[in-house]
Amino acid sequence: MKLVILVAVFGLSLAQHNPHFKYGRTSIVHLFEWRWADIAAECERFLGPKGFGGVQISPPNEHIVLNDPWRPWWQRYQPISYKLCSRSGSENELRDMISRCNKVGVNIYVDVVINHMCGAGGGEGTHSSCGSWFNASKKDFPSVPYSHLDFNNYKCRTASGNIENYGDKYQVRDCRLVSLLDLALEKDYVRSKVADYMNSLIDMGVAGFRVDATKHMWPGDLEAVYSRLHNLNTSWFPGDSRSFIFQEVIDLGGEAISSSEYFHLGRVTEFKYGAKLGTVFRKWDNEKLCYTNNWGEGWGFMPNGNALVFVDNHDNQRGHGAGGASILTFWDSRLHKMAVGYMLAHPYGVTRVMSSYRWNRNIVNGKDQNDWMGPPSHGNGSTKPVPINPDQTCGDGWVCEHRWRQIKNMVIFRNVVNGQPQSNWWDNQSNQVAFGRGNRGFIIFNNDDWDLDVTLSTGMPGGTYCDIISGQKEGNRCTGKQIQVGGDGRAHFRISNRDEDPFVAIHAESKL
Ligand SMILES: *[C@@H]1O[C@H](CO)[C@@H](O)[C@H](O)[C@H]1NC(C)=O
Ligand SMILES: *[C@@H]1O[C@H](CO)[C@@H](O)[C@H](O)[C@H]1NC(C)=O
Ligand SMILES: *[C@@H]1O[C@H](CO)[C@@H](O)[C@H](O)[C@H]1NC(C)=O
Ligand SMILES: *[C@@H]1O[C@H](CO)[C@@H](O)[C@H](O)[C@H]1NC(C)=O
Repeated sequence: MKLVILVAVFGLSLAQHNPHFKYGRTSIVHLFEWRWADIAAECERFLGPKGFGGVQISPPNEHIVLNDPWRPWWQRYQPISYKLCSRSGSENELRDMISRCNKVGVNIYVDVVINHMCGAGGGEGTHSSCGSWFNASKKDFPSVPYSHLDFNNYKCRTASGNIENYGDKYQVRDCRLVSLLDLALEKDYVRSKVADYMNSLIDMGVAGFRVDATKHMWPGDLEAVYSRLHNLNTSWFPGDSRSFIFQEVIDLGGEAISSSEYFHLGRVTEFKYGAKLGTVFRKWDNEKLCYTNNWGEGWGFMPNGNALVFVDNHDNQRGHGAGGASILTFWDSRLHKMAVGYMLAHPYGVTRVMSSYRWNRNIVNGKDQNDWMGPPSHGNGSTKPVPINPDQTCGDGWVCEHRWRQIKNMVIFRNVVNGQPQSNWWDNQSNQVAFGRGNRGFIIFNNDDWDLDVTLSTGMPGGTYCDIISGQKEGNRCTGKQIQVGGDGRAHFRISNRDEDPFVAIHAESKL
């Protein structure tokens, strides 16, 4: 009997680590703050054809609407109810997006905010995205409904009611995160409301969830919520599929709570990955790219099967969350492309690419005064659509890193080499490194301040390959550098440290 229960629990938890990607796809893109109508169009015109596995969407539920500062991005991390109307669009638009993305093999992962509701100082009224009335000081959210009985009130022992010491795990989970009203997830009623919300999304056809602020919830409470979740919708996924769950736990070490407490429930965001990769590519702390020959678990990261990895995310690209100044974002585009290329070539973890919008960055004494700014918007506060320029880039302030040739082509590289081991490592004991993925792909970086000129074993079959960084294969033509691989698998590479992008990548499908 005990054995049966163990097997059941183990089976359930393992399932929640699987992203259920279609057709051998391998990466997620976070379309931060995009409207549902734009995501649906992007799935059809770009993400499906280019082999993206899925999209992380911004929270779809009703959220507070704030005037001061004006419509910050973080208003969506302050729920008012689980009605499905948000800054990104209506329930019908959400439904339409999910089914149109599913039809082209692109999964949807929903960012769910279930640790808390809006801030204690959120006021009262109908300043919410669906116009639901609420009273934050009374902890009254009739559209769920939640009352003051559904929050961690006296359970929190700090004088302020907020988390004051991250060394105390009771505070981190029972007190308010930056004054956000903390839900009592130990209550069956609260668990059922949260599970109903997530189940409505599962039934609509989503593939899983990014669980916001996971560190601030007890693993046992989350297990109780997850165990109530439906299997994925069989119109889109095989029978008995469990939702993919990746949990936001910021663990750079040295705190009371560790990522490993959540491994059995799903994957966990590995924040060390982007912080370290940024440090390496910036050559800070005497780091060198050659030291990444044991990148992954060898660097003290979590086990491969638990990790969700990224170079930057919507928080740490603007100085929120964790990772600090080393994080590489689109503002440092040359190094960012190299770091994303490295991540997508390397076998460790499930990979997520960030897709951002520009804001008026204004750093004073290390802090961005405009870190609150929301997405490109009209004067009335509604989010602007994402226009696509003739050269396939995005306009109106949308950065669309995922459309940059180098990043788009490395997403395809990862699909092509999927399942192959890392092989043929080479380095110059400095910042020039190369590695392959079996006989399916090879990548080489020059992050030194001098040229690279070397002949290496690639593991690839002989032939002429098109470099997918400086260009790409179009028909039988190569718009970038060509790489000759001999019958012995060896190839000569020259990369100037002054090249626009000082790295080269080839794969089985870029062979001419
Ligand atoms: C909102 O809650 C506060 C604090 O409990 C209370 O004083 C106020 O009357 C409430 N407003 C309404 C309209 O109920
Ligand atoms: C699953 O998705 C299909 C297609 O969108 C829909 O018709 C069906 O009602 C969904 N199933 C559930 C259980 O909601
Ligand atoms: C906001 O303004 C834009 C641009 O003028 C317009 O297209 C949109 O319909 C307006 N939205 C609302 C809710 O008024
Ligand atoms: C690698 O860097 C070293 C210095 O650390 C340099 O002497 C060597 O020429 C470089 N190798 C290549 C192939 O450029």
